[in-house]
Amino acid sequence: MWGGRYAEGPSAIMAEINASIGFDRKMWRQDIRGSLAHARMLAQVGIITAEDLAAIERGLEQIGQDIAAGNFAFDSTLEDIHLNIEARLTERIGEAGKRLHTGRSRNDQVATDMRLWVRDAMDGLAGQIEDCMRAFVGVAAAHTATLMPGFTHLQPAQPTTLGHHMMAYVEMLSRDLSRMRDARNRLNECPLGAAALCGTGFPIDRHATAAALGFAGPTRNSLDSVASRDFALEFLAACAICATHLSRFAEELVIWTNPSFGFVKLGDGMTTGSSIMPQKRNPDAAELVRGKTGRINGALVGLLTVMKGLALTYAKDMQEDKEGVFDAAESLALCLAATAAMLRDMKPNLNRMAEAAGAGFSTATDLADWLVRELKMPFRDAHHVTGRLVAQAEAMGVDLAGLTLREMQAVEPRMTESVFGVLTPAASAASRTSFGGTAPVNVAMMVQYWQEKLA
Ligand code: ARG
Repeated sequence: MWGGRYAEGPSAIMAEINASIGFDRKMWRQDIRGSLAHARMLAQVGIITAEDLAAIERGLEQIGQDIAAGNFAFDSTLEDIHLNIEARLTERIGEAGKRLHTGRSRNDQVATDMRLWVRDAMDGLAGQIEDCMRAFVGVAAAHTATLMPGFTHLQPAQPTTLGHHMMAYVEMLSRDLSRMRDARNRLNECPLGAAALCGTGFPIDRHATAAALGFAGPTRNSLDSVASRDFALEFLAACAICATHLSRFAEELVIWTNPSFGFVKLGDGMTTGSSIMPQKRNPDAAELVRGKTGRINGALVGLLTVMKGLALTYAKDMQEDKEGVFDAAESLALCLAATAAMLRDMKPNLNRMAEAAGAGFSTATDLADWLVRELKMPFRDAHHVTGRLVAQAEAMGVDLAGLTLREMQAVEPRMTESVFGVLTPAASAASRTSFGGTAPVNVAMMVQYWQEKLA
């Protein structure tokens, strides 16, 4: 394809390090789409004839069918997907195939193919993020008032509800979704026609190819067009953040399914057993969501590192953008599917969660707030008095509601019987009616808000 000035072919190691066909064959659909748009434009502006176009269209369609059917022998001496398809085209249709590359280069071709691939991946992942949001909302809808402990530092903090906890992830995923959509908008300009780096003297119509490929328009600078991969970086960043959210939930599932917590149970279909310990029910899917996040985050750092030292414009280093992007997209798709499946499978243990919601003096803040409200005590003083009551209860081996009024009055003489009304986890949760708070009425409102948005 480029051997005109060469007397000898590449050495074996040159060929091996150079070839990307082993992984960029994944972009065959995008490569054919791009070539069809380019050829149609070439015919439209009179650079190739209508007969050439007809032959190219027929040839590319046939090649597409062959690849889809597994009847295409990829040739690693042809380096990459672009040369593989072009060589086969010329083999099939002759002369006309050799005219396809007029006014373009593999540099703008690969940039176009990658944008198309990433755009398709973004659309697929956006749909999956929405599905995962629906799964979280589904659990939340059934558990707006199901008590569970809210944690900070993984220590009991204040009672919350399972519904509120689930809806926290809905908010995170909604931002992941909007990050995907933002990145898609910025990605959606077409580099095709930037050619090698400086554009071309042929009277090509870049607006036509951009429109044919569903881009908002052509990119405005040919050097930038072939040199930039920030669309891939943004995609990877969006993937990494989303995976990080899923990984946190996965970590929670690992904790919650541990019998010492026993908050939820995953069924036979979403756990695995041990070949030696018959009692085991391991949350492998959750662990793998957590684990795969490592490779997704790694792909982002990998490509940032590839790009950071490249003088404009194209350099072969950029061929290293592909495996990380493909792998991150596929891994995130799996993580989203597995998370949605675990959500739809998991059975919360309401008693265990309610019991835990009241443990660890989780209503101490409610007691302090009561002192502020009823006795007009400054909050800092109330915090101190409550701390003394907690210490007292702890020494006696009871929870706060287990202290008698007389024992409380020994610490603060103005305490009254009404304090016991704020010491239950249910009362605590119900009282937190500030916008975005834990109160079941709030959670029900947010569930409805998202159900309507996701409908
Ligand atoms: N396989 C190459 C890549 O992925 C295509 C572009 C090759 N361009 C070049 N000037 N050798 O980057």
